Amino acid sequence: MKIATSILSIQDHIHDCLEKINHTDTDYIHLDVMDGQFVSHKTADYIPLKNYLLKPLDIHLMVEDVPAYLEHYVALKPEYITFHVEVNTKIEKLIHMIHEKNIKVGISLKPDTPVSFLIPYLNEIDLVLVMSVEPGAGGQTFLENTSDKIQFLDRIRKEKQYHYMIEVDGGINEKTKEQCIGADILVSGSFITNHDDYQHQIDMLR
Ligand code: DX5
Ligand code: ZN
Repeated sequence: MKIATSILSIQDHIHDCLEKINHTDTDYIHLDVMDGQFVSHKTADYIPLKNYLLKPLDIHLMVEDVPAYLEHYVALKPEYITFHVEVNTKIEKLIHMIHEKNIKVGISLKPDTPVSFLIPYLNEIDLVLVMSVEPGAGGQTFLENTSDKIQFLDRIRKEKQYHYMIEVDGGINEKTKEQCIGADILVSGSFITNHDDYQHQIDMLR
């Protein structure tokens, strides 16, 4: 299982915390970008942290204006940029825009969005980010309907020989990870960064 460490719950000493993350074997740093519109909270700009973001980056855009944030965050050379299927922009166009920049495309869905909404895009995307909490904040409780979505996505992937990764985001800990069978990447924020020994927490999730 791959692990993406979310830095959303880090309150202060961000540089020290990022140095600590860089010393773990986390597969990705997961950057949660919020615009105060798609979700009520707005996150600070991550570009000033560029020199501390030394792991492959997995950027999760919880924003309405995906093209604007894409233009901004391309500078961090992320491996993945993920946007939400609920945005009011043509999804095919967004997929194309991200692929044009040689960045892998992820699509995410909120807990109440039917997974069938993703079907038209599954053949061309690189990642599905299944939200296991309502997007907007760290430290929430894992929602139980998540495992059905993961299993559905895993089954379709096998049947159709699609190549997307399945990533799960929100409320992941050493117990809820058991409900993520079929997933490839677990995003974890508070479970890792609210503890002193990040590597120990990551080992518990793998
Ligand atoms: C929620 C974010 C998540 C969150 C994960 O909107 O997308 O990435 O930070 O944090 P935990 O692991 O604390 O639920
Ligand atoms: Zn996230």
